Amino acid sequence: MFQQPPPLSLYIHIPWCLKKCPYCDFNSYVRMADSRLESAYQQALLADLVQELPHIQNRPIETVFIGGGTPSLFSSHCLGTLLEKLYIILTIPAGAEITLEANPETLNRQRLREFLDLGINRLSLGIQSFDESSLKKLGRIHSRDTALTMAQTALATGFTHVNLDLMFGLPDQTVSMALQDLAIAVALHPQHLSWYQLTLEPQTVFGKHPPTLPDEETLWTLQTEGQAYLASQGYEHYEISAYAQPQAHCRHNLNYWQFGDYLGIGAGAHGKLTQPTHSQITRSYKQSHPERYLHTAHSADVKITEPPLSESQIILEFMINALRLTQGFYRSQFEQRTGIDLNQLTLPLTQAIAHNWLIKDHDHIYPTPLGLRYLNNLLELFV
Ligand SMILES: C[S@@+](CC[C@H](N)C(=O)[O-])C[C@H]1O[C@@H](n2cnc3c(N)ncnc32)[C@H](O)[C@@H]1O
Ligand code: SF4
Repeated sequence: MFQQPPPLSLYIHIPWCLKKCPYCDFNSYVRMADSRLESAYQQALLADLVQELPHIQNRPIETVFIGGGTPSLFSSHCLGTLLEKLYIILTIPAGAEITLEANPETLNRQRLREFLDLGINRLSLGIQSFDESSLKKLGRIHSRDTALTMAQTALATGFTHVNLDLMFGLPDQTVSMALQDLAIAVALHPQHLSWYQLTLEPQTVFGKHPPTLPDEETLWTLQTEGQAYLASQGYEHYEISAYAQPQAHCRHNLNYWQFGDYLGIGAGAHGKLTQPTHSQITRSYKQSHPERYLHTAHSADVKITEPPLSESQIILEFMINALRLTQGFYRSQFEQRTGIDLNQLTLPLTQAIAHNWLIKDHDHIYPTPLGLRYLNNLLELFV
């Protein structure tokens, strides 16, 4: 039985980019900034949100994440209007984390200042690499210099939480190129780094025409050396791809990984809500194509709700999220967030411990480095 619902976050999806990157399968479409479209979309977002209100009964929103796509394509006027209305409609406590994802090419000093003045207190910059040849192969629209300048400017403007997204395992990348990217990033002193392994997604240009990627051995070396380097520079590795200075973890993403609740508004945005009174967890998603989204946002057709999760789905989904975290989870958190007694998992937990994939220290359960490496095998135990 659930005693109370978990913390609640809000994700807002902006589905447009200036150019589609060949590796990316996010729900994003090419479109230039356009004030009429922005304003129609912003109204659609609010209409979508208003329909969600009966499901959240005034629960406070701990974090807001405006992601994409490239939300920094939108004008600060439009984002400001949106945030203003959110503060009226929702209960957003002081100190809530408000993140904006941004592509360096869409920024300048003035826009950064305006975003900060709107109350956006965390900026997540899509950099990917500081190497010009890698940026070209990734089809990025910005240069190394623009990436450097915008990261420096964001920090100098007063953002106290800046994340840089970098990827490794890039076409023709060597170990020293990947480490060089990390060294340049660290020299900027961002509070947070996301360091993703490039994956070839089937429906993308790279998926259909795969570039030459580093072999397994190179990947293993660059990953272990990169992790050791980031640790030596004071960045805590707290999730498979996430590294943070002390107290600078991404609260929004942590809420996903700790199986919290979230509302998702915008094209293709996903939501998860716990209803303690019904002992149910329900997932939903919004119409994914922006045109269909814009047409349906003012009606119930915008949202597709899945049947409540079964007990076995809840267990697997909890593990898929929580075992990405190097700190894992506590018994009380599992039981509060799933409504399930952890004793039901004695067999898979014992097996995982025997494989040296998990450690159980009283009520604290967390993955070993080996468990993180073989996460898929570890998760299979919970299927
Ligand atoms: C939605 S993007 C937001 C940033 C912004 N759109 C940009 O790219 O400048 C989030 C991040 O996901 C990562 N990403 C996207 N596709 C990926 C892939 N195929 N493999 C690994 N990481 C990927 C990139 O690091 C990217 O910055
Ligand atoms: S990586 Fe970012 S900029 Fe590139 S297509 Fe995906 S969302 Fe757009």
